[in-house]
Amino acid sequence: MASQHHELLLLLSSLLLSILSISSSTKSPETLVLPVKKDATTLQYLTGIHQRTPLVPVKLVVDIGSRFLWVDCDKNYVSSSYRPAECNSAECSLAESSTCGTCNDTPRPGCNNNTCGLFPENTITRVGTSGDVINDVVVFRSVHGYSATVPHFLFTCGSTFLLEGLANGVQGMAGFGRTRVAIPNQLSSVFNIHPQFALCLFSSPSSNGFIFVGNDGTYNLPGGIDISRSLMRTPLIINPVSTSGISVEGEASSEYFIGVSSIKIDGKAVNLNTTLLSIDESGVGGTKLSTVTPFTTLETSIYKSVTKAFVKAAKAKKMKSVTAVAPFKTCFSSGVGTFDVPSIDLVLGSDEVYWRVIGANSMVEVKEKGVVCLGLMDGGLNPQTSIVIGGHQMENHFLQFDLATSILWFSPSLLLQETTCAEFQFRDVA
Ligand SMILES: *[C@@H]1O[C@H](CO)[C@@H](O)[C@H](O)[C@H]1NC(C)=O
Ligand SMILES: *[C@@H]1O[C@H](CO)[C@@H](O)[C@H](O)[C@H]1NC(C)=O
Repeated sequence: MASQHHELLLLLSSLLLSILSISSSTKSPETLVLPVKKDATTLQYLTGIHQRTPLVPVKLVVDIGSRFLWVDCDKNYVSSSYRPAECNSAECSLAESSTCGTCNDTPRPGCNNNTCGLFPENTITRVGTSGDVINDVVVFRSVHGYSATVPHFLFTCGSTFLLEGLANGVQGMAGFGRTRVAIPNQLSSVFNIHPQFALCLFSSPSSNGFIFVGNDGTYNLPGGIDISRSLMRTPLIINPVSTSGISVEGEASSEYFIGVSSIKIDGKAVNLNTTLLSIDESGVGGTKLSTVTPFTTLETSIYKSVTKAFVKAAKAKKMKSVTAVAPFKTCFSSGVGTFDVPSIDLVLGSDEVYWRVIGANSMVEVKEKGVVCLGLMDGGLNPQTSIVIGGHQMENHFLQFDLATSILWFSPSLLLQETTCAEFQFRDVA
């Protein structure tokens, strides 16, 4: 039953169509769901939407911190229902656009006169450009099986060159940041649902994880596991300075920051320069969560302290150091079970609130070499953000971003409850 379930989950674009019994789209959804699949080659997390008239599936890279959804409008964008956002319209104000553009070509998506613009960015290669704000039909799915159509979903037109470095077949990026035009707030206002989303990344390309947008409530896991009982909370912190490549003066960061106050390895605090843990007036420092960073990246002095303490604790657990396999610097013989490695706790303000990184999230298996490596990266001496919690460390954790209260609710690893992010079940409960 479980493996059959997984087979069905393999088809990204038709996933929800295949496992849900689709009813009418008249009912207002409470919670929307997007499948998320890890790409084996790039380690990017991909999702899919249906867009345009006629509807086509569009594959996107998930960036939880990005300001909006953008797609390549230069190539293969065919739609009878797209509308450019007219300068000074309510749409341009929602998008917080302050530019107004013209285009000396035949009108098409991405080329219109009197249209406001934003700066779409490939947040992996950090290449950005300018592009029109437009709207078009986008169809989402509710967890209860209804399709949820947004006739005028606002997004930005990117260009084909922005796709360079993104996974095969991808046509843009899906932003879940804290702006009004990003997916969570836009869907919240269209459907009158709670401005919140939950992220649950699965660890392998063989199955999907999910993003839920909207009200909390029934996230069904087999065995009657109620995730809400195991959630801890920590404030989401606003970085007042944009972390995007191109931004306007005074723009805050759309990314999600949390207040890591110390790091413990097997319960023992690591010596850190705590100045690096807070965000200074230039927006430098602090800790953010990023789905476009495959492995947690630490400022050099933090990286060194954490690695050193980890190696010491690993030695005490009889883990055997071996020659490192790039890009990693600290590897061990994989004879050791992944649950028997030192725990890394990201302490969040008080000792009782911590994000525990267990072996499955700290170690990366390099099967062909028979080794496991510590999945952390050296972020250099003066990074914009001191700690970037990456995808590998978020996998199989349930992370709920409440934008109304600015709180991150996070679960311990679901593996500790013998389940994963791929195990959510959707049924028409009506
Ligand atoms: C924009 O206006 C100019 C001048 O009127 C015109 O030449 C051009 O074709 C228009 N572009 C579009 C995309 O309609
Ligand atoms: C701690 O980090 C801050 C910010 O980078 C730096 O200015 C300061 O010199 C560091 N302190 C020590 C003791 O290294």
